[in-house]
This record gives sequence, C-alpha cells and structure tokens, in this order.
Amino acid sequence: MSVATCPSTGAVTGLRETLDFFSDPGFASKRFATHGDVFETRLLAQRIVFIQGERAITDLLKQGAVLEGWWPESVRQLLGSRSLANRSGPAHKARRRVVGQLFSSGALCRYTPSIQGLIEELILELQQSETPQPLATRMRRFAFAVIATTVLGLDASDRDALFADFEIWTQALFSIPLAIPGTPFARALAARERLLARLKTVLQHSDSSQGGLDLLSGGLDEVDMPLDDDDLVEQLLLLLFAGYETTASSLSCLFRALLLNPDVEQWLLPELLSSPWPFEASHRSPRLDATVLEVMRLTPPVGGFFRRNLQPIWLADVEIPKDRVIQVVLGSRTAEETSDIAAFRPQRHLDGSFNQTLLPFGGGERVCLGKALAELEIRLMTVGLIQRLQLQLLPDQDLSLKQIPSPTPRDGLLVSVKQR
Ligand code: HEM
Repeated sequence: MSVATCPSTGAVTGLRETLDFFSDPGFASKRFATHGDVFETRLLAQRIVFIQGERAITDLLKQGAVLEGWWPESVRQLLGSRSLANRSGPAHKARRRVVGQLFSSGALCRYTPSIQGLIEELILELQQSETPQPLATRMRRFAFAVIATTVLGLDASDRDALFADFEIWTQALFSIPLAIPGTPFARALAARERLLARLKTVLQHSDSSQGGLDLLSGGLDEVDMPLDDDDLVEQLLLLLFAGYETTASSLSCLFRALLLNPDVEQWLLPELLSSPWPFEASHRSPRLDATVLEVMRLTPPVGGFFRRNLQPIWLADVEIPKDRVIQVVLGSRTAEETSDIAAFRPQRHLDGSFNQTLLPFGGGERVCLGKALAELEIRLMTVGLIQRLQLQLLPDQDLSLKQIPSPTPRDGLLVSVKQR
C-alpha cells in the first residue's frame, strides 16, 4: 500500500484562506477539485485538514480513541464544558448513554401521539389560512415544538420564552468569542444562562405525564455517580442545538423537492395515501424512506463536523500528522447539472443503481443520537400532510437554498394550500 503525505494549499499565515473561507461558498469544493479528497490548509492560526468522500470519512470514523471531538471556541463556550459534544472518551460515552434514553424505541412510541397532535394542529392552521403560507417557517416551528414540547415537556409560555433566548444564543454560535458587552457573543452568553436556568426548572418538575425527561432519572456518569442537574441541562441545551435546524431543514428540503418534481410526488403518492394514520412507526414505507435518503444525499442538513487526531492517522491512504483539526465535509460532490447523479431521483435507492454509503447522520462513536426521532418526525409529517393537503408552489419566489446553518429555501417556500 502506498501512503501519500497530505496535499496542502501552501497557506502560511492563513489570512487569505480565512477571507476566502468566509466569502466563498465553494471554498472546500474548489480545493477538493485541485488536491483530491484530503487536503490541509490554515484558517488563521489553525492547521485544518478537510476531508470528503466515503473512503476518507469511513477511515476516520473507525479511528476510535485516537480522535477527540472538536468545535470552534465560540461553539465550545456556548454549549458548555459539560456538554457531551465537548467531551471525549468515557465521559462522552457515559453521557451518550444517559441522553440516549430519550431516544429509545419505547420513548419514541411515547412521543408519537404528541408529534401527530402537532401535525394535526399544523394541518388545521394551513387549511384555515386564506393567504399563501411559508412552509419552511412552519417546519421550523414544528421541529422546535417537537423537542421543546414532546421531548422536554414544556408548556406553551415556557416554549416561547425558551425560543426567544435560543434564537439569541444561535446567532453567536459561529462568531468571535469575545464577551465584550453589547456584542452578539456577550448577549448569547447571557441568553445561555437564562436557557440553562429555565431548563433546570423544567428538569426539576418533570413527570411522566409530559415529555420524556423522567426517563433521565438515575443516569450515571463515567464513575457511576448520578449526573447532577448542571450537567444534565447542558445535555438538554445540546439537543436544541443538534435537533432543531437539522430536522426543519430536511422537512423543508423534502417538500421543496417534491413540489419541484411532481413526477416523484406521483410515484410516492399511492404509498402515502395507503399508509395508516395515526401512523405506526413499524409501517413499511420503502418509497418514502428512499425519498428521505435522496433529500439528505442532495441537501445534507449537516454540512460537516470536526475532530482532532491525537496520533498520526491515515485517511484514504493519506497520512495526517498528529494534532490536526479535521473537518469532515458531508455535502454532495458537485456534478454536471444534467447528469443523473445531480437529479432528484429517489428510485436510485431501490433499483440498485446507487451503491455509495451515505452518512447524513455521521457514524462511529458520535453518530447522531436523535436519528430515530428525526426519521420519525419526517415520516409522520410527510404522510400526515400529503394525505390531507395539496400544496402548490407560489410563482416568482426564490427557491434557491440558503446553506447556513442548514439548507433552507430563501423565500421560505411559499405555498398555497387546498384540501386533498
Ligand atoms: C435530519 C436531522 C438530523 C441530522 C441530519 C443530524 C445529523 C447529525 C450528525 C452528522 C451528527 C454527528 C456530528 C459529529 O460526528 O460530530 C449528529 C450528532 C448529534 N445529533 Fe443529530 N442530526 C439530526 C437530528 C437530530 C435530532 C432530532 C437530535 C435530538 C433531538 C439530534 C441530536 C444529536 C446529538 C445529541 C448529537 C451529538 C452526538 C455525539 O457527539 O455523541 N440530532 N447529528
């Protein structure tokens, strides 16, 4: 086996690269085209290795203890030092075990009626609306409500207050982490304190009649001690961060793709119309599953994530020296617009013509904890909405996608609504 040294952009100070990184959405894809699936550059003082493609990513996800989680300083501070996102090894594993109780199959069965209730509410609102509706905004509200109401058990007023602070907090996630009074980062740190205080009250009053927080009782840390409330609330804050924009994005992109491709909607429709409602999680829906996978292939809700390697590692036969930040890029490779691979064609996942492994939920020790919940939300929403409503795109709107933090249609996906 021949091993290559890591191709580099040759950046010395990283200043030029940093400016390009923030101004050019094609930053990574241009460099992948020049250097291949693994390359190193510098963003300010940070040496950073970008990787893409099934081979390099699966090689990385096999590395286990040689890797640590890594986030930019602003994210690290806003999530907090106790958050499992900022922990590695046994401390990370123990917290995954605790938080994972919120997403067991038993927990999902418990959540299903509440999620269906939120969908019924949305259908009613859409039916009663006399003006065109921004579907993407509705999907964001729904995805937030699933975590806040269904999982955390908040009532409507707590949910609204939480949402307001959460928006302030999110705006500074990828900002300069200097807490100078008046800056977005300082405001976000203050919002974080209020969020944690509210989550702590909710945690202390949780019971099995609302949400799933009672499932967390008795969770133990890495030395088998109960996790204290300060620790638990940081894990709950992470759930809002990880589970809201991502799920809202996949829902908006799914409806956008169906509305832009009526032939696919026609292919999917018989399966959706014959699905039971209330929906049973065990109900088989191969066409819907293929459609969801195709949406995530073309518009991955999470564009990437980071690791740091404590030892040298080899990714797709390229040697990565120790102590690099590695940015995994999950976005789909650019393809000729007319090629089959650029087309939205869910059938490819059923007819054997596509054999790549897609990793929209990551993999290995940090694979998404909320995958089953996200898939349940998407399946329920698609079946519920399409069984009852006919949606039509409003003309003359910008359907292109804003990519950050997760892909979403620029004009909010304006639709008119008719009863089916
Ligand atoms: C379509 C929706 C979603 C997508 C595409 C997605 C994707 C991902 C990805 C790629 C990661 C791995 C990050 C890494 O390796 O560093 C991740 C981690 C995570 N996700 Fe999701 N996610 C989604 C929804 C959710 C939901 C609904 C929740 C919970 C409410 C959630 C909770 C988490 C948590 C807690 C982690 C951190 C796991 C760890 O560091 O061990 N996600 N997600």
